[in-house]
Amino acid sequence: MNGPVGKIIGVGSALGGRVVTNADLEGIIETDNQWIVDRTGIEERRFVAEGEDCVTLAVDASREALANAGADGSSVDLILCATSTAPESMPSVACLVGEAIGAPGVGAMDLAAACAGFSYGASVASSMLASGAANRVLLIGADAMTEVVDEKERSTSVLFADGAGAVVLDRGGGESGFVDHILGADGRMAPLLRAGHPGGEQKLYQNGREVFKFAVRIIPEMVEKLVARNGITLEDVQYIVPHQANARIIQAAARKLDLPEDRIVVNVDRFGNTSAASIPLSYPEIFEKLDPGRYVITVGFGSGLTWAANLYRV
Ligand SMILES: CC(C)(COP(=O)(O)OP(=O)(O)OC[C@H]1O[C@@H](n2cnc3c(N)ncnc32)[C@H](O)[C@@H]1OP(=O)(O)O)[C@@H](O)C(=O)NCCC(=O)NCCS
Repeated sequence: MNGPVGKIIGVGSALGGRVVTNADLEGIIETDNQWIVDRTGIEERRFVAEGEDCVTLAVDASREALANAGADGSSVDLILCATSTAPESMPSVACLVGEAIGAPGVGAMDLAAACAGFSYGASVASSMLASGAANRVLLIGADAMTEVVDEKERSTSVLFADGAGAVVLDRGGGESGFVDHILGADGRMAPLLRAGHPGGEQKLYQNGREVFKFAVRIIPEMVEKLVARNGITLEDVQYIVPHQANARIIQAAARKLDLPEDRIVVNVDRFGNTSAASIPLSYPEIFEKLDPGRYVITVGFGSGLTWAANLYRV
């Protein structure tokens, strides 16, 4: 890529309307607050309320991102939504977002790479912007994981939650934008983490231990690769935004990188694992604090197994 592309000009987020604490879960499954906090760092999460789903979350996050950018829906020329929990196989969530934000006729599609979806999407959006196929992209990560998780399965129901995050990306042309991406997938690890469609019989299954080990290995590996091949140091990176699966995974990765805790973003304690939404959900929390000239690295991993990371110059 020649120079940074895909400058973030607006960010937005939306969370399920129902706050669910660990104590609330104690009434549904055999678990306890201490186990959940010790093993995952999660204290509460947000589930969709009546009338909400992946689409309503995506729409709310998109509207907020457009307002934050001071942009109209009609100014966007591509809508990309990373999701694994679209309520229907078709139409895509992105099409419905286009309708809701007043962007008729604008190209729209969903992208499936599970919890790595937003990072995959940032790479696709950057390529479309770099090629001139688009000038402004609305990139969304949205998932209502409660639609595919068995609420009685205690090893997964305490982890996953519902949310959406969105960013508006302009082609840029200046100093700010994405400068590099890593995309990876290995279907041999598909049995480690899989789920059926919303409303279907096949609920989410995961081999927690194996996914844990994989995540702790792949996060630092991708960060180190991006830093090394772009001739920067970790000191130049203001924030690392990892997929929010488990606070222990994030802490272990930070230790491996010898990174101070205030430069690694954590909100899994409040939001749980919202899959493709987890990285863009973090953007509103850091956007105003970003220092021009420094870098942000976003790192996703998930079912597939998939993994992806992005280097963004502020
Ligand atoms: C799921 C995870 C928290 C489980 O933690 P763990 O330390 O591996 O725990 P284990 O699965 O070995 O289970 C330990 C015990 O706790 C029990 N347990 C599981 N869920 C529980 C819960 N919610 N409450 C209380 N006990 C629970 C298990 O049944 C097991 O009991 P046993 O020893 O009597 O069989 C952890 O493996 C993890 O976070 N993995 C990564 C998951 C992830 O990141 N997924 C998303 C990727 S996108």
